[in-house]
Amino acid sequence: MEIYWILVLFCLHVDADITLSTENSSERSEIQASEQMEDLKEQADAKQVSSDQQLKDKDTELLLKMVKEMKEQISKMEMQIQARETQMQSHDKSIRELVDQVNFLKRTWTGSCLPFTNSTDIYTIKLPGMGSVDVPCNSSVSGSGWTVIQRRVRGNVDFNRTWNEYKHGFGDLRENLFLGLEKIHLMTLLQPHELYIQLQHANGSSSYARYDDFKIGSEAEAYKLKSLGKYSGTAEDSLAFHEDMKFSTFDRDNHDCAQYFGGGWWFDNCAESNLNGIYYPNGTSSKRDGIFWGAWQKHNYTISLTFTQMMIRPKVM
Ligand SMILES: *[C@@H]1O[C@H](CO)[C@@H](O)[C@H](O)[C@H]1NC(C)=O
Ligand SMILES: *[C@@H]1O[C@H](CO)[C@@H](O)[C@H](O)[C@H]1NC(C)=O
Ligand SMILES: *[C@@H]1O[C@H](CO)[C@@H](O)[C@H](O)[C@H]1NC(C)=O
Ligand SMILES: *[C@@H]1O[C@H](CO)[C@@H](O)[C@H](O)[C@H]1NC(C)=O
Ligand SMILES: *[C@@H]1O[C@H](CO)[C@@H](O)[C@H](O)[C@H]1NC(C)=O
Ligand SMILES: *[C@@H]1O[C@H](CO)[C@@H](O)[C@H](O)[C@H]1NC(C)=O
Ligand SMILES: *[C@@H]1O[C@H](CO)[C@@H](O)[C@H](O)[C@H]1NC(C)=O
Repeated sequence: MEIYWILVLFCLHVDADITLSTENSSERSEIQASEQMEDLKEQADAKQVSSDQQLKDKDTELLLKMVKEMKEQISKMEMQIQARETQMQSHDKSIRELVDQVNFLKRTWTGSCLPFTNSTDIYTIKLPGMGSVDVPCNSSVSGSGWTVIQRRVRGNVDFNRTWNEYKHGFGDLRENLFLGLEKIHLMTLLQPHELYIQLQHANGSSSYARYDDFKIGSEAEAYKLKSLGKYSGTAEDSLAFHEDMKFSTFDRDNHDCAQYFGGGWWFDNCAESNLNGIYYPNGTSSKRDGIFWGAWQKHNYTISLTFTQMMIRPKVM
């Protein structure tokens, strides 16, 4: 189209030349003028034909150039698309590989009781720097995959023990036990954990307290109760009082409480709860050295609970 307009303009220009020349013909002879006109017309025609041809050539040239450029651009874009596709395929591939890895870890990673779905038994888990460790798993309370870290059912195991014994754990995995502060530290260090505490009174009634972010420090931090998270349950909260406190035993008494209360706990001048106190099978103690959870027993500390179980489980994100 553009080419057509260029041609039209060119022709108008030639006509103007002729007109101007004709104007001055008044001073020349008519013949001269008409000859000249013929001449010019011929010239113009010739000019027109040749430029027509030239323009046609130019047009074709331009078109060819355009086609060439478009072809180049298309092939460039095709190459880009191909590169993108390859990139996306490798992304897809690496995502698939990551998913596979996660699934593999889920199947084989046994840093807690979580992989032993629906099981209530003793299982071997692996902890960094400690290797294989046997732990009791319990899936019969509030869902699957809880690791029991403390349990009191009878008075046959003494809980008034040394720092070293609380560090490594003691008791019987199937009954009364304390799993060990070092293991609890390593487990809660690796991933966020929930804590579930079950309590039972001698009269048969029971309650629970649950915390959504339980974590204890290292031995260098005296196995401090670093975090508890949010409380929920029916026992009321008698552990937040102990948050941020170091662990104490009679031989490493960080608050001058463990000697009197017996057992090891995160004492803080001194205790609103102590699930590691002395076990009184009849549920009554004469002084405040039994197993208690202040809020639930309305701060009547002659009451000593007859069943407790503390369990932890990795938080499901
Ligand atoms: C036409 O002739 C006149 C008189 O000779 C001159 O002045 C003028 O420039 C001429 N015009 C053209 C276009 O040649
Ligand atoms: C675990 O128990 C629940 C509830 O009984 C059941 O729906 C689920 O399929 C069980 N999972 C496995 C892996 O056995
Ligand atoms: C699991 O928890 C239930 C409910 O507290 C308890 O009765 C049972 O003894 C526990 N079993 C094991 C093996 O921990
Ligand atoms: C715990 O044991 C220590 C060391 O034998 C003793 O001094 C302390 O009185 C005991 N505490 C209780 C409550 O029995
Ligand atoms: C409960 O048992 C303790 C010792 O185990 C005893 O001293 C106490 O008198 C008993 N209390 C009741 C009410 O039987
Ligand atoms: C049993 O003991 C609990 C805890 O002290 C108390 O809340 C509950 O009312 C008691 N139940 C009975 C039937 O005495
Ligand atoms: C505390 O509990 C004991 C039973 O362990 C009970 O005999 C006593 O009356 C209770 N004290 C109060 C003030 O409720």
